[in-house]
Amino acid sequence: MSVERTLVLVKPDGVTRGLTGTVLARVEAKGYKLVELRLVNATRELLEQHYAEHVGKPFYEPLVEFMLSGPVAAAVFEGQRVIEGFRSLAGSTEPTAAAPGTIRGDLGRDWGLKVQQNLVHGSDSAESAEREIGIWFS
Ligand code: RTP
Ligand code: MG
Repeated sequence: MSVERTLVLVKPDGVTRGLTGTVLARVEAKGYKLVELRLVNATRELLEQHYAEHVGKPFYEPLVEFMLSGPVAAAVFEGQRVIEGFRSLAGSTEPTAAAPGTIRGDLGRDWGLKVQQNLVHGSDSAESAEREIGIWFS
């Protein structure tokens, strides 16, 4: 199995709550290698590219506003099956339902907002990872 790379974002809720180090430490502790890291104030143009698949969905505009609300910590992690492995560490999309032991399950909750603030993003396929890493680290 070849070495993969994935894009991990600590979203503005995670950065603002002071959880950037905690999140990155969990991924490092799993054994994946941190190979890129930067703090980014995203632009609407960048987010339109990143979330192109969600354009037109009811949560799209609130999602973009949320991602513009503060800095994002963008990281690239490397390892065998890291794409699947990070999604497993992150837990399911809704923090209320995410399993305890996962990042979203342990650190997140529903805040009653228009979009789920769920701390992290992880690429969902090798194609997405390549595309997203190009957007955040160009
Ligand atoms: P991500 O892309 O951030 O890793 O998360 P995901 O694959 O688990 O979720 P996705 O379906 O790609 O949705 C992207 C982000 O939009 C927000 N969302 N809120 N019903 C809702 O309130 C809702 N649905 C999606 C979340 O922040 C989700 O991570
Ligand atoms: Mg997604």
